[in-house]
Amino acid sequence: MTATYGRVVLIGLCVYLASAGAILVAQGPAEGPRTTVWDGVYTDAQADRGRGFFAEHCASCHGADLRGGESKALVDKRFWSDWQETTVEYLFTQISRNMPFSDDGSLAGKLPRTVYVDIVAHILKSNGFPAGQRELTAESTAGVAIVHKDGPRDLPADALAHVVGCLERSGSDWRLVKASRPARVLAGGAVDTKQPLGDRTIVLRFVLTSLQKYVGYRMSATGRLMGEGGADGLNVTSVSPIAQVCE
Ligand code: HEC
Repeated sequence: MTATYGRVVLIGLCVYLASAGAILVAQGPAEGPRTTVWDGVYTDAQADRGRGFFAEHCASCHGADLRGGESKALVDKRFWSDWQETTVEYLFTQISRNMPFSDDGSLAGKLPRTVYVDIVAHILKSNGFPAGQRELTAESTAGVAIVHKDGPRDLPADALAHVVGCLERSGSDWRLVKASRPARVLAGGAVDTKQPLGDRTIVLRFVLTSLQKYVGYRMSATGRLMGEGGADGLNVTSVSPIAQVCE
């Protein structure tokens, strides 16, 4: 991180200056009723087909039971750390663009869309989400939120997240106070440096460079959450100033 820090800071400033085009990466709390994975968005018959396709195209790396093997698990804890507060559309898009994996990338995106959709149904079923009366389609994945049954929660440990907040020194730690609720960083990595401050305190872990000159600045930080919602800090991959004042 030390080596790339200067560059990260520069990118940070450029992003700030160009932030008219900033992209929202994660939805805040719902603005109204919305469809979620608990609403029965696929059918049992579809998930059964998906199980067959999964065995054929995916299980060699992700495990017949989706618990991982050569590659990562697609259920339980890992499912939530990768996908909570995203959408079924995003899950579908990632899979249908990038999988099946191969070294030269030649297999990525090569299966029929209906096969990918059925596989997503199987993944949803394997994570305990209920089946319904209608099949999932590429179109119907849109806007279906992946949230816990009781609604949105803080992101779990290990999720890649972004926060903004005011930099402070506390003992030997750097931390962000008045920090925003950690927002998920989606593939592509665009983060919203314009999001408002909040009421969180997030300790920045494993920062190897002195941030002394940025004390009091509004900062943007990205990394893996340690503990739910970053209760134990953020394992920082990049940190950069976005303004000299923080209010
Ligand atoms: C040859 C091994 C292999 C096969 C076959 C394979 N994958 Fe993967 N998969 C990987 C690897 C490697 C990654 C990247 C893991 C990482 O870097 O986090 C990955 C990542 C993923 C991810 C996470 C993507 C993300 O954006 O985080 C999902 C979901 C996934 N695979 C699903 C599937 C599905 C569904 C299939 C079958 C259509 C499949 N994979 C086939 C190896 C494989």
